[in-house]
Amino acid sequence: MIASAPGKIILFGEHAVVYSRRALVSAIDLRCRVEVKRSTEFKIISPLGVTSIDFKIHPYVSFALERFKEIREINGVEILIRSDIPIASGLGSSSAVTVATIKALSEEFNAGLSDEEIFEIARKVEMDVQGRGSGVDPFISTFGGSWIFPKKIKVDLSLELFVVKLWERATKTMVEKVANLRRRYGDVVEKIFDAIDQITLKSLNCSLEDFEELIYINQSLLRAIGVSSPEIDEVVAKMEKFGFRVKITGAGGGGCVYGLFKGKKPEGSFVVKTNAEGVRIENS
Ligand code: MEV
Repeated sequence: MIASAPGKIILFGEHAVVYSRRALVSAIDLRCRVEVKRSTEFKIISPLGVTSIDFKIHPYVSFALERFKEIREINGVEILIRSDIPIASGLGSSSAVTVATIKALSEEFNAGLSDEEIFEIARKVEMDVQGRGSGVDPFISTFGGSWIFPKKIKVDLSLELFVVKLWERATKTMVEKVANLRRRYGDVVEKIFDAIDQITLKSLNCSLEDFEELIYINQSLLRAIGVSSPEIDEVVAKMEKFGFRVKITGAGGGGCVYGLFKGKKPEGSFVVKTNAEGVRIENS
């Protein structure tokens, strides 16, 4: 049984969304495919390695298996992962593999999980691994499309974006960093989250020119809460010199930056489309 789920891009609102502010998020046309085969042992095969249930090398898939075992008794399964989504880069690779794994397991073992149930399990897995999070990533990987989260308002957002991949980092570390800053400067950080919330709201009904200005403002606020870095600022400044407006997407500290694709893109970047389909069963 093969299932696939999309990656995601946060256009505005990362981190603030962990504290219930609004984020604009869309599923992108990069997918993770997970093939599940019945077996007498547990085996996970991915570009990260071949393991049994292993919470260090394959934390998301391992926790997904543990959570699925609470629903169906299984004594073994082989899981083969192939993904177009760069890992640890802010494009939702962890949630995509989690959601696709749960969907494929559900179909293979006739658990009949609905998308809502798949999302709930993937959300638990995110908490198992990260300990904190808004749930935006598993939500988008499950349902696809474009949304205002956490209010779960569906929006129509057909955009082409360029993405520049920087280096890998852990979402958990960046979320903890912001939590520490908030502990020390609660009032200040809450005001920044409020400003980010307003950016999301304004982005819903604006020209592409204004959208780019909002990208610029949101990036400045992400810098203020400590999830950019001198190296990322340098990349951003270099692109701005060439007339692009870019911001971090996802947890920051590395990961990816994105901008609006208007026929021209920075060297080394790739183009993604928003509004992709959510989790689904693949025929082969
Ligand atoms: C990660 O893709 C987005 C963050 O806002 C964390 C979360 O919402 O769980 C940084």
